[in-house]
Amino acid sequence: MTTPKERTPTALRSLLNDATAHATGFLEELPERRVAPTATREKLRKELGGPLPDSPRDPHRVVAELASVVEPGLMATAGGRFFGFVIGGSLPAALAADWLTSAWDQNAGLYVAAPAASVVEEVCGAWLIELFGLPQDASFGLVTGCQMANFTALAAARHSVLETVGWDVEADGLSGAPPVRIIVGEERHVTIDRALRFLGLGTANLRTVPVDDQGRMRAGALSAALAEASGPTIVCAQAGNVNTGAVDPLRAVCDAAREAGAWVHVDGAFGLWAAASPTLRHLVDGIERADSWATDAHKWLNVPYDSGLVFCAHPAAHRAAMGSHASYLVHSEGNERDELDWNPEASRRARGFSMYAAIRSLGQSGVADLVGRCCAHARHFAEALAREPGVEVLNDVVLNQVLVRFLDAGGDHDARTRAVVKAVQEDGTCWLGGTTWQGKAAMRISVSNWSTTTQDVDHSIAAILRAASSSL
Ligand SMILES: Cc1ncc(COP(=O)(O)O)c(C=O)c1O
Repeated sequence: MTTPKERTPTALRSLLNDATAHATGFLEELPERRVAPTATREKLRKELGGPLPDSPRDPHRVVAELASVVEPGLMATAGGRFFGFVIGGSLPAALAADWLTSAWDQNAGLYVAAPAASVVEEVCGAWLIELFGLPQDASFGLVTGCQMANFTALAAARHSVLETVGWDVEADGLSGAPPVRIIVGEERHVTIDRALRFLGLGTANLRTVPVDDQGRMRAGALSAALAEASGPTIVCAQAGNVNTGAVDPLRAVCDAAREAGAWVHVDGAFGLWAAASPTLRHLVDGIERADSWATDAHKWLNVPYDSGLVFCAHPAAHRAAMGSHASYLVHSEGNERDELDWNPEASRRARGFSMYAAIRSLGQSGVADLVGRCCAHARHFAEALAREPGVEVLNDVVLNQVLVRFLDAGGDHDARTRAVVKAVQEDGTCWLGGTTWQGKAAMRISVSNWSTTTQDVDHSIAAILRAASSSL
């Protein structure tokens, strides 16, 4: 049991100062640190595990031990030389606000329980709608990540398309409901399928539309698919293919879907951020014509995990799908925002504070600079690597994603490419992953961190080329 002594302001300050020292020490070392962890799983299990503690331990000791044991097992995803998956770091203001969020410990479900959190979310939503150029009266929700943003948006879509044929899915479920046609691009993200599973819509009957060499849905093929039948229909489009960064032809997709009376959902986990950059906005031309959008703040806005966003052009459908009422949940009587009406959670972290701090610290021009800078780094990677003999860049580098293939004299390009990826990961200068793109093994580079410098990219290019020569 925590003793009263530990609850005194002095004891608490001393404990939090310790945590600050560990955190700042870690962050200060990041620019020079090996990216991949050094601790093995066995070591981590041995040092962290053991029997269930049967008695208290001094919090200072707990924090000190945790920091020293965990740090060698951390991947330096927060630093500027991590290029795996699509993972952003944490902007200083967002990180500091995240600490405050924990100290304040608000339960941001209802206005009455956490008024400041509710207002901050309201402000973030309005700012982001403007930043992305979405319809002014769109509703929004702050969720854990794009997986849940896709889920929330598709729940609103399910509500709306069934409502138009007189079916109340929230009351009556899906048994006996009119069938819902789901049209998806061949290259949709896996979280779309998972959201459809969660929603009882399943994945076996998806109507899949073919894509081009960059993974973009073919608009003509979508029109043909839409013409095959009528009835409740949802089209899942994408802004930012997880491999190539390519964006579906959104204006054509939205126009065709609108004509057919279908709902268009856009999964823009990172690609939606192109809308915030005047020089990249053309990539998502027409995006405002969709019905719902999903994105992440923990990717390109560089807000700490977990932080996703959903927007919906039809607030009534959004609220009908998510709203939750019970006698003890004291909803606001005015127009205050009760967050639980807009997302699938009940009790929840006040994740708006760090998002607010990120947007407030960058401003509109800072967001555009961040996005543009990452894309410039991606182009630098692509140009430098493509100059080397035996190295191919497989995609058009339109955003922050680069796919690289290493050719093998013996013809086994897949094996050599995978060997280079593994060697780079082991070297530790930077970290990036592998993928398979249209049947070919590829190295996948994603530049999503605010702190990445040109020097980080140059050191990483050198490390990749060293790994490539050693695999010859
Ligand atoms: C296009 C796309 N959609 C959805 C997701 C899932 O996002 P999250 O992991 O934040 O749930 C990702 C993640 O990379 C993505 O790239």
